Amino acid sequence: METKKAKIAIHKVCRTFYSPKGEKIEALKDVNLEVEDAFSPAGRDIGEFRVLLGPSGCGKSTLLRMIAGLDQPTSGEIVVNGQPVTGPGKDRGMVFQKYTSFPWLTVRQNVEYGMKINGVPATQRAETSSRLIKAVGLSQFADVYPDTLSGGMQQRVAIARTLALRPSVILMDEPFGALDAQTRSEMQQLLLTIWDETACAILFVTHDVEEAVYLADRIFIMSSHPGTIVEDLEVPFNRPRDLELKERTEFHELQHYVLGRLKSAPGLGGNVRVSI
Ligand SMILES: Nc1ncnc2c1ncn2[C@@H]1O[C@H](COP(=O)(O)OP(=O)(O)O)[C@@H](O)[C@H]1O
Ligand SMILES: [Mg+2]
Repeated sequence: METKKAKIAIHKVCRTFYSPKGEKIEALKDVNLEVEDAFSPAGRDIGEFRVLLGPSGCGKSTLLRMIAGLDQPTSGEIVVNGQPVTGPGKDRGMVFQKYTSFPWLTVRQNVEYGMKINGVPATQRAETSSRLIKAVGLSQFADVYPDTLSGGMQQRVAIARTLALRPSVILMDEPFGALDAQTRSEMQQLLLTIWDETACAILFVTHDVEEAVYLADRIFIMSSHPGTIVEDLEVPFNRPRDLELKERTEFHELQHYVLGRLKSAPGLGGNVRVSI
């Protein structure tokens, strides 16, 4: 039997903004969600892969930023690993759409940067960075500067950098949104392979239905104005998954179902992407 506890617990979270004209924007209203932490019989932590899916403007980034401790709810509670969130912390790693490596540091120095700040000894830093750079397929590029690399490769650096800090939760905000379709697919598969070998839970934001169905154990489907969760959907496909899954009838059927849920959700701006 697996035992489960909440890694992220969000209870009745609301976030209201005001426009420069003073108009009230209810970015999120009464959002409840839980990301669980599962332990196998051997005691191995097997964190879940959760996706938050919804149209642009439904509050996905706002929610992720609040879990990261970069913003606070107007009301409600966010608890990570049993502790109420009051600010950023080492237990949460974040990967954004925009490439965020330091341009003046090499790939290896970027991956080691956080460990250095945290006082990890040099030999251990070198060992960890080599392992992670290899895992993301960049061993040949360890000593180059990130801005000489393609977008997909720069996002691999960001993923390695985040994993180096051994967060228990990784928060990813449309990390592959700026990549071309082919690179995006390759990155999805790479992420699943790496995640399989780590202990962390992932909360991944996207507005792309195919990406959500391919990656997730469960999908939180959101609607906008106000941003709220309309369904918590289980994705039943076995792991490990490979890109051939995207060709299967069951995959297309689930994509259609999810798209239907998004269409029927109130406030959809018509900007959800489906690629079949
Ligand atoms: N700092 C802010 N000030 C005012 N409105 C904001 C701010 N941040 C987000 N919003 C508004 O909140 C809503 C949700 O935004 P966001 O979380 O960025 O959505 P998503 O990531 O799903 O596209 C939008 O209507 C957006 O304009
Ligand atoms: Mg966003």
